[in-house]
Amino acid sequence: MDSTIQAFFAPCPRGLEPVLVDELTGLGAAAVKATAGGVAFRGTLALCYRVNLESRIASRVLLRIAEGAYRDEQDVYDAAYAIRWQDWFTPQQRIKVKVSAHRCPLKSLDFVTLRVKDAVCDRLQYARGKRPSVDTHAPDILIAVYLDGTACTLYLDTSGEPLFKRGWRKSAGEAPIRENLAAGILRLSKWAPDLPLYDPMCGSGTFVVEAALMARRIAPGIGRRFAFEKLLSFAPPTLNDVREELQAAEIDAQSGLIHAADQSAQAITSIRANLALAGLTESVTLQQGDVLHLPPPAEAGLLVTNPPYGHRMGEGDALKTFYPQFGDHLKKHFCGWTIQIFTADMKLPGLLRLAPSRRVPLFNGAIECRLFEFRMVAGSLRKKRADGV
Ligand SMILES: C[S@@+](CC[C@H](N)C(=O)[O-])C[C@H]1O[C@@H](n2cnc3c(N)ncnc32)[C@H](O)[C@@H]1O
Repeated sequence: MDSTIQAFFAPCPRGLEPVLVDELTGLGAAAVKATAGGVAFRGTLALCYRVNLESRIASRVLLRIAEGAYRDEQDVYDAAYAIRWQDWFTPQQRIKVKVSAHRCPLKSLDFVTLRVKDAVCDRLQYARGKRPSVDTHAPDILIAVYLDGTACTLYLDTSGEPLFKRGWRKSAGEAPIRENLAAGILRLSKWAPDLPLYDPMCGSGTFVVEAALMARRIAPGIGRRFAFEKLLSFAPPTLNDVREELQAAEIDAQSGLIHAADQSAQAITSIRANLALAGLTESVTLQQGDVLHLPPPAEAGLLVTNPPYGHRMGEGDALKTFYPQFGDHLKKHFCGWTIQIFTADMKLPGLLRLAPSRRVPLFNGAIECRLFEFRMVAGSLRKKRADGV
C-alpha cells in the first residue's frame, strides 16, 4: 500500500468543525486544521479509507491534488491541465466536475466547470489517446474545484455519495435532519453510550439511530461503497483490512438505554423500518404518544430532540401554545436531565420559559440554527418571563 502522505479536506455541516477535528485526530489524521465548513488534514490513502468508513461527522473526504493562484479561466484550465489525471483514472471512466466558490471574481462558474472539464479531457487525450465522457448523474470520478478570491484548489472526491447517506434510511418521515448533523449534535452534547438517551419527537429517528450505531461501535460506512474504489490507486486488501478490523470491534446492543417516541403513528412505522434496515431493532425502545403525556424513560439522562418548527411545518400558532407546555413538562418531570434542543427558532428558550446554559450556532444546510442546552436542576433555572430571551 502506498504510504505517501496526502492532503485532504473533509467538509461538514457548519458549526461541527471542532467535533470533526476531534474525530479526525482520534482516527489518526495529522496536521488537522478547521476552516469554515470543514477540516483539512493529512494522512495516507489507508487513512482516507478509514475516515470514509468511520467518520460520523464529515460529509465527504476530498483528496487535494493541486492548488495554485489564478486570475482568469485560462489559469484554472492550466492548473487542471498540469495534473497527471492518467495516474488517477482511465479515459473509459465517466467524469463530473463540480465547482464551488467563495468571493471568486470570475463571471460564470459554469464556464469554469466547462474549462476544467476540457483540461481533464485534453490531458487524457494527450496521455492516453482518448477523452473520457461526462456523466453528471452517476459519474465514476468526481472532480471538485474550489475557488476563493485568488487561489484554486482541485480535489478528487473519494466518497461519491455523501457520507451522511449511511444506507439505513428507508423512510424519511417529516423534515429529517442529516445523519452527520445528528451525530455531531450527539458529540457536542458529550453523550456517552452508558447515559440514557431520549428523543421524544423522533420523526424518522435520526438521533437514536446514530446513537445506537455509536453505542454498538458500528462504523457508519461499513455497508456502503465509496468513490475511491474506482481510482487506479485503490488497494482492495487495505480496504478489507480496515473493514475486518471495524467489524471485529462491533459490540452487542445494551438494551434499555436509547428511547424514542413520536405522536405520529407514521413516524413510528418509519423509524421501525429504519431500525430494522440498520439491524438496530434491539437497541432502541419505541413508544407512540404525545411528548406532554409521556414520563421520562429514566431517572436522568440526555434528552435530545429536533421539535417541529413553525415555518417548516406550517404550524406556527399551535406551536406557540405547545412550547410553554413542553417547557412546563420538562421542569416538572425532567429534573436531573440535560436537554439539547436543535431548532431554527431563535426564540425557543423564551417560548419554553427556560434559560439555556449553552447555545451553539449550527447550520442545517443553509438554515442557521441553534443547539440550545438546558440543565434541568430543580427550581434553579426557571426563566423569568420579563427578560424575554
Ligand atoms: C422536525 S420533526 C423531527 C425530525 C427528526 N429529528 C428526524 O430526523 O427525522 C418533528 C417531529 O415531532 C413530532 N411531534 C410534533 N409534536 C409532537 C408532540 N406533541 N408529541 C410527540 N411528537 C410530536 C412530529 O410528529 C415529527 O415527527
